[in-house]
Amino acid sequence: MPKRKFKGNPPTISEGDVALHWDENADLWTEHVRKGWDSYREHLNNPAFLEFIGSIECKKILDAGCGEGYNTRIFAHMGAKMTGIDISHRLIEHARRAEQKEPLGICYEVASFTDLAVFAEGSFDAVVSTMALMDSPDYEKAIREIYRVLRKQGDFFFSISHPCFMTEGFGWVTDRKESKPSLIVSGYFSKKQSIERWQFSEVPEDIRKDAPLFAIPRFPRTLSEYINTLIQAGFTLKKLGEPRPSVSECRKYPYLQRWRDSGAIFLHVHCVKS
Ligand SMILES: C[S@@+](CC[C@H](N)C(=O)[O-])C[C@H]1O[C@@H](n2cnc3c(N)ncnc32)[C@H](O)[C@@H]1O
Repeated sequence: MPKRKFKGNPPTISEGDVALHWDENADLWTEHVRKGWDSYREHLNNPAFLEFIGSIECKKILDAGCGEGYNTRIFAHMGAKMTGIDISHRLIEHARRAEQKEPLGICYEVASFTDLAVFAEGSFDAVVSTMALMDSPDYEKAIREIYRVLRKQGDFFFSISHPCFMTEGFGWVTDRKESKPSLIVSGYFSKKQSIERWQFSEVPEDIRKDAPLFAIPRFPRTLSEYINTLIQAGFTLKKLGEPRPSVSECRKYPYLQRWRDSGAIFLHVHCVKS
């Protein structure tokens, strides 16, 4: 794949570009995630998602867009027989190295979830995907492929940034009279692809100032696009989840309070191959 560098945002972002960006993010992402600096994952998203999916013991599961395997290892510890795929070679290298160090029986492959030709139809009891499907330009193709590799009545669970709140014009305002920040949502219907640049909020101050930012391609979609594509592929929708921090979680992690008061940062989806 040719190496390309973008200044600002390219007009359209291909799957090859996504792979390139994630290869460049891979070392930093792996280090910071493993240090526990992805606080939203640790304190809100993962606890809610693990409850959402329930027991997965002994199930043969594909993790689509597994990254360096942080969550894949959690699913393996829960007793599932895991295969992880990711489009980034570098992230899969990190995942394989972790597997060599502490074998959990996880098999990793470099592949796109839009082309799962390496797996036969009906290969898996379930597919999980955490925070990856909104990072791909071709959601529809991904859903068709995921449907194909699932067995009949197989479960598909995924998490994404909540499309209704994490919009192009997302931001916070604090009213003069109110001390609480309020969420602003705009540009919900925008189709503008972009490269988001940020770092985890838990990165310690002394490291933060010199650490490069992740460059993450984003492909906005509406809620109806996400859900209708599942239905058109043949899935039956079972359940949606919108994790809301509890009072005690907010006491422990005060930065979560705004997500208790204002809106949902993540959307969890469960559907079944009918
Ligand atoms: C935000 S990261 C999440 C990684 C992992 N699921 C986790 O929760 O730690 C998004 C991941 O999606 C992967 N990705 C994006 N497009 C993909 C595609 N078409 N096929 C497979 N992986 C893809 C990226 O390489 C990246 O690892």
